[in-house]
Amino acid sequence: MSEINGETRVVGIFGDPVAHTLSPAMQNAAFAALGLNFVYLPFQVSKADLAAAVAGLRALGLAGVNVTVPHKEAVLPYLDEVAEEARLIGAVNTIVNRGGRLKGYNTDATGFLRAAVEAGFEPRGAAAVVLGAGGAARAVSFALALAGARRIAIFNRTYARAETLAEEVSGATGVWAAALPWDELTKCGVEVMGTANIVVQTTSLGMHPQEAAAPPVPANAFRKEQLVVDLVYNPPRTEFLRLAEKFGARTENGLGMLLYQGAAALELWTGRQAPVAVMREALLRALGQE
Ligand code: ATR
Repeated sequence: MSEINGETRVVGIFGDPVAHTLSPAMQNAAFAALGLNFVYLPFQVSKADLAAAVAGLRALGLAGVNVTVPHKEAVLPYLDEVAEEARLIGAVNTIVNRGGRLKGYNTDATGFLRAAVEAGFEPRGAAAVVLGAGGAARAVSFALALAGARRIAIFNRTYARAETLAEEVSGATGVWAAALPWDELTKCGVEVMGTANIVVQTTSLGMHPQEAAAPPVPANAFRKEQLVVDLVYNPPRTEFLRLAEKFGARTENGLGMLLYQGAAALELWTGRQAPVAVMREALLRALGQE
């Protein structure tokens, strides 16, 4: 962080809770590396205060903010403009303030895709399996569909949620998307996953401190040629990823998505290219995983 002075631009994150966010460490390290007079701060904003917080963003002239749980969907009506992808997903995680005009973006989707492509995944024509149908699964499913995936199978504990997501994805993008019941993971998981190029675990199963938990996926469901992504990054290797590794799949945790959603947000706010190596290092340091 450069010295705070009269020209310092302020960005930050609106969420509740925000105490454990890794974004300030990642973004401030990036600003320092680029020599930019920006500072990134956490703002704890309750649901009841969201409208006032967005008005405050305008009034105080913040350059923009990230938006996290529980505001990603609720914030849309307060914006002047919403990027196409964010509108389809129905969620915004990044707001850019251009002279008092607020535009919402979803860099979770672009961040996920950039991390997967960096890990060798080719989205065009891909067959995908998504485990979960919450906010993260929405960003992942739309990102895959918009990048040219051929089919997306969505397994979720609450079947109706998977059904809604599959219908929305196929309705909006024309990509074949289908909902599958969570119980079917143990049965048809092998068949559906065995033919997938990418499998993405978006639920909180396996996240610290419940590290023993994992989706009920049959052990032989994975194969060598596929990329298996678990959006959990703490611990860095979940039980789910260990299993996938055992069967020779390439694996990635959620750090890449976190990193690249932040990189994309920084690029939107500053117009500069994000120093991703510095940002990755700051994340690992903040997680104690370096
Ligand atoms: P996020 O934004 O991280 O995706 P979310 O919108 O609350 O968070 O979604 C959480 C996802 O994890 C959902 O798909 C949820 O399944 P339900 O729709 O049935 O709630 C899934 N999930 C959470 N705990 C789970 C568990 N113990 N077993 C299976 N799925 C679980």
